[in-house]
Amino acid sequence: MTALTPKKGRVFSGARPTGRQHLGNYLGAIQNYVALQDEYECIYCIVDLHALTTVDTTENLRQNTYEMALDWLAAGIRPDESILFVQSHIPQVTELHLFLSMVTPLGKLTDLPTFKEKVRMQPHNVNYGLVGYPVLMAADILLYKADTVPVGIDQEPHIEFAREVVRSFNYRYNAAVLVEPHMKATEFPKVLGIDGQQKMSKSLDNHIELAATPEETQGRVMQMVTDPQRLRRTDPGDPDVCNVFSLHKVFSSPEEVEEINVECRRAGIGCVQCKQKLARNLNDNLEPFRDRRLELDRNPGEVWDVLEDGQQRAQEIAALTIAEVKQALGLA
Ligand code: TRP
Repeated sequence: MTALTPKKGRVFSGARPTGRQHLGNYLGAIQNYVALQDEYECIYCIVDLHALTTVDTTENLRQNTYEMALDWLAAGIRPDESILFVQSHIPQVTELHLFLSMVTPLGKLTDLPTFKEKVRMQPHNVNYGLVGYPVLMAADILLYKADTVPVGIDQEPHIEFAREVVRSFNYRYNAAVLVEPHMKATEFPKVLGIDGQQKMSKSLDNHIELAATPEETQGRVMQMVTDPQRLRRTDPGDPDVCNVFSLHKVFSSPEEVEEINVECRRAGIGCVQCKQKLARNLNDNLEPFRDRRLELDRNPGEVWDVLEDGQQRAQEIAALTIAEVKQALGLA
């Protein structure tokens, strides 16, 4: 890539600091973040303030932030081109959050399917911050005037909400200060966990960590649930309903995928052998990532330096937006 390639626009995306990333995070988001760097000016944020809305304890917050940054960098986020930073390091986001709350009808927030889901999941902790979650997310995007937001389809109501907030704000204060963002849906199909049933997630403990050792990876793969109809080694299997096969399609060569497709259907290959192949290919694919991660992890100070540099660059953009917003509001 040459430095002179004009960029298509500005991308912003964020994720809560969940610590070590897993295959679902990688296939669903991180690989997309990495690819977008070629065409867009990218800002990636570890949203630790959002994490506060759902966690009971924060003792792992800093470590989780570090581990996630490490994984993103090892996976190919280029901090000299893109901005990588931690949400709470830019206090203006909370300021913008408050300003945006003035043009946010409460009913709109409590009607959101994402809010209702959170209420179902943590009925004991329906806090004010949780209601404002989408307002803070809108503040993230709008503070940096991003026009493109790569997220999973579950986040669509939040992006639509951000667009409405922009329209309300610009209309009410009669200023074209905020920019309406567009969602760029991540195309990757849902990655299932080793249970073969539910979406891969750390909280369900059905995940495979990118940074796991080859042995751990092998262990997790061997636990994967395959075609439930295939009970005996001699039964033919159906790769179309097998999560091991789904991952083969990502990590194995086209020839090997085709061979497994054919052999599984006529019981020419058993699940154990099929998983062994997957574990090997997965480990081969992840090896360069793991080497880079180990290298970076030797100097944690440098990872924090990257985040601090990101903070400085994010800060410049944020300060300009807040100045404009305050002017529009009549506060400056
Ligand atoms: N709500 C997003 C999620 O749960 C995380 C997020 C916070 C985000 N702020 C954002 C995503 C801004 C995109 C842009 O996945």
